[in-house]
Amino acid sequence: AAEPAPPLLEPDALASLNARMQRCRECPIGANATQAVPGEGPLQPAVMFVGEQPGDQEDLRGRPFVGPAGQLFDRALQRIGVARESVYVSNALRHFKYELRGKRRIHKTPAQEEALACRHWLDEEIAIVRPRALVALGATAARALLGRPVAVLSERGEWRERGDGLRVLVTLHPSALLRMPPEQQPQAFEVFVRDLALAWPARA
Ligand code: URA
Repeated sequence: AAEPAPPLLEPDALASLNARMQRCRECPIGANATQAVPGEGPLQPAVMFVGEQPGDQEDLRGRPFVGPAGQLFDRALQRIGVARESVYVSNALRHFKYELRGKRRIHKTPAQEEALACRHWLDEEIAIVRPRALVALGATAARALLGRPVAVLSERGEWRERGDGLRVLVTLHPSALLRMPPEQQPQAFEVFVRDLALAWPARA
């Protein structure tokens, strides 16, 4: 009898996951997107960040958090002295959901069924990447990671534990900060930075 195939090493497992993700049509979103956007970063990082879904830029470039929300996120990491390359960054959903307005593609919030259909990609990714801790950026990520609705404004800055023992720090999504009135943004940014710092106890 043939030997069972040996388990894939993590980089191969991740490449295989990402290739399968490109073909995913388990919900309607993928049909209108340019490509699926996989997570990126080192294996076994101290922290894995999870956002909602790719935005316009991410959809075009195939990389997570490279648009305006990503730039804000990068600035927050810089403030606590954390290199973006040292963390793993991913999303709860892998395709950009949008509505066309003229030529502009406007972000649309994913439906709960779409988030649920997408969740196995995140679960598989976490199992391969094996981060020491997770940070949920916003309600969609928090719900995907904790398996229950999360009121981000009341749970932000707090650690929660998952069934698998991994800890999840909840905070706002950087896009939520960008949607605030300009005069509120500097202070909201400071609170966001403080939240992120909690994921590196030595820096908080
Ligand atoms: N917003 C997200 O949630 N994820 C991205 O990758 C970009 C913007």
